[in-house]
Amino acid sequence: MTHESTQHTPDLDPSFVFDFRTYDDVGDGQRWSTWLAVEPLCRGPEPRPAWVVTSQAAVDTELGILKTGKEADAFLVERAVPDSDALGASVVMVAKRYRSNEHRTFHRAATYTEGRSVKRSRDERALKRKSTWGKIVASSEWAISEWDALKRCWSLGLPVPYPVQIDGTEILMEWITDADGESAPRLAQTRPEPALLASYYDQLREALATMVGNGIVHGDLSAYNLLAASERLVIIDLPQIVDLAGNAAGLDFLLRDCTNVCGWFRARGLQVDGDELFAELMAYAF
Ligand SMILES: Nc1ncnc2c1ncn2[C@@H]1O[C@H](COP(=O)(O)OP(=O)(O)O)[C@@H](O)[C@H]1O
Ligand SMILES: [Mg+2]
Repeated sequence: MTHESTQHTPDLDPSFVFDFRTYDDVGDGQRWSTWLAVEPLCRGPEPRPAWVVTSQAAVDTELGILKTGKEADAFLVERAVPDSDALGASVVMVAKRYRSNEHRTFHRAATYTEGRSVKRSRDERALKRKSTWGKIVASSEWAISEWDALKRCWSLGLPVPYPVQIDGTEILMEWITDADGESAPRLAQTRPEPALLASYYDQLREALATMVGNGIVHGDLSAYNLLAASERLVIIDLPQIVDLAGNAAGLDFLLRDCTNVCGWFRARGLQVDGDELFAELMAYAF
């Protein structure tokens, strides 16, 4: 070893090298991943899909709006560890964000939430008064309700987007795509050929049987709340999920769901009937 070489700064032990960034050092339309900021119970059920990004180094980037709705807006958000292409280092998810300034929330609330308890009486009074606090409570109640529904349905093996996490009025969930990797179209926008149409119907009937068998009804089922992910049908938009036990109107909601979806399938040429589907599903009810 020459004298000269000892003049160089010795190589640092890599474990002492930090990729230093300050906490707010993210760009416009970005935030640090909120994965670790939420309580464990606000993260999706196990076993977790391998694509879920759990790294503390991940950054969330807004990719744009998917659809604005009356009570909630759906956005695309990428969660990625910068400069990494390992599995679990990058994923695009849907962020469904509930709004707190909607009056319709309250009109829907009465029938759908029958039998559901609002534990804190302050919140209950605020809901009744329709105060600003009440609106915030209402929108997070809807977010929690959809979150619980997604978790429950996912754990039952139903075709719903995987629920990644909930943070206040925002739910992050699996982005459902078609064969080209684009956002899957709503069933209502598609014209499936007869074999696929029949397959979609079978998938739906099987899913509804599982739901009814477990005492749950979607409550707002239509060809707009079903996504056509190539060969697979995926059920979305579940905040108003209804418990068959404890909600006197549960069967009415089920019949309406059956009528809605069967109407669409019939208009596309499949000989099905809402009353018949309803009767068939009743066999699964306890
Ligand atoms: N997980 C998802 N993957 C792909 N697209 C979605 C997903 N969730 C929602 N969307 C799109 O956003 C729209 C609105 O979502 P939805 O849950 O039905 O909310 P709402 O009807 O209450 O506005 C859907 O019709 C669908 O086009
Ligand atoms: Mg919808």
